[in-house]
This record gives sequence, structure tokens and C-alpha cells, in this order.
Amino acid sequence: MSSISQILVDEATLKARVKELGAAITKDYAGKSLLLVGVLKGAVIFLSELAQRIDLPATFDFMAVSSYGSATESSGVVRILKDLDESLEGRHVLVVEDIIDTGLTLDYLYRHLASRKPASLAICTLLDKPSRRQVEVPVKYVGFQIPDYFVVGYGLDFNEMYRNLPYIAVLEP
Ligand code: IMP
Ligand code: MG
Repeated sequence: MSSISQILVDEATLKARVKELGAAITKDYAGKSLLLVGVLKGAVIFLSELAQRIDLPATFDFMAVSSYGSATESSGVVRILKDLDESLEGRHVLVVEDIIDTGLTLDYLYRHLASRKPASLAICTLLDKPSRRQVEVPVKYVGFQIPDYFVVGYGLDFNEMYRNLPYIAVLEP
């Protein structure tokens, strides 16, 4: 059995940072409309709160990829389980992710989406574990850099559990 050992980012801190990210995105994309691409399922809660803090015309689309199975180690194998519904051509695309760990998932996704001719392509991640990186990924917006802990909550899971916690917590192995 695993359990929560420590709250890493509490609810108020999360909300304040999401508001700041939304304000920065609103400023950077002023005059444009945005296509927010969420990576299922981990980014759903972050995307839904971030989108409300972006004061621009915006639409959503979602992708599902597999990179983890049920273990806590990245396999390095990325498979697209659900592709986008909309065309990216000529759109300003912001990929919204829950966490960048090894970078393998986003490295693959970024190159895949770039080939679909968006007007611009950028990445916004709530969490970043820089010490675990295996490939460099061009990330434009980062909510929080965190140490090498396995974390859950605010969309992030362990075996599909804990996604509904309103804070980020460290999972005790
Ligand atoms: P990467 O390909 O190693 O960067 O892994 C990215 C994906 O692994 C994320 O989108 C998460 O779904 C999952 N992941 C990585 N670290 C964690 C963690 O600490 N908690 C929960 N999921 C994680
Ligand atoms: Mg994910």
C-alpha cells in the first residue's frame, strides 16, 4: 500500500500560481486566439483552472498518450491512444501538461505536433522535475520546479488514484 506522506504544494499556492501563469499567457498571446491541447488524463484539472485565467478567445482539444503503464518509471515508449479532433494548421497551440519528468513524452509529442504546421507551438507544464530529464524539451511556462519525488493530486495519479486531491502531495512508496 502507498500513502500520502507530505503536501508539497498546497491549494492556495497552486491557485495563485495558476493565476500568474494565466496572466502571463494572456499577455504573451494578446490579440491572438489559442488552442489549448491537454494531455489526458493528468492535465485535465490544471487545464480547466488555467483556461479560466486566460483572458483570450480559446478552444480546447485533448490527446491521450501512454508512457507509464502502472509503474512509477518511464518506459520511454510513447503511444498515441487518442489523437486531436482539430487541425493545428495556422493555429497558436499551447500544450498543457501535468508534469515533465524524463521529458520523453513531451519530446515525442512536441515533434509530432510541430509537423502539423501550427502558427506557433509552446508548452506549459504545471510541474517540472529537472533532475530526471533525459531529453531537453522547449518548455515556455513552468508552474513549479520540484525535487525528484513521485507526486500525486491535482490531476496526477498513482494507479489512477489521487487525481481528485486539491493539492500536490508526495507519495510514500
Ligand atoms: P516523462 O515522459 O518521463 O516526462 O513522463 C511524463 C508523464 O509521466 C507525465 O505526464 C505523468 O503522466 C507521468 N509522471 C511523471 N512523473 C510523475 C509523478 O511524479 N507523479 C505522477 N505521474 C508522473
Ligand atoms: Mg501526463
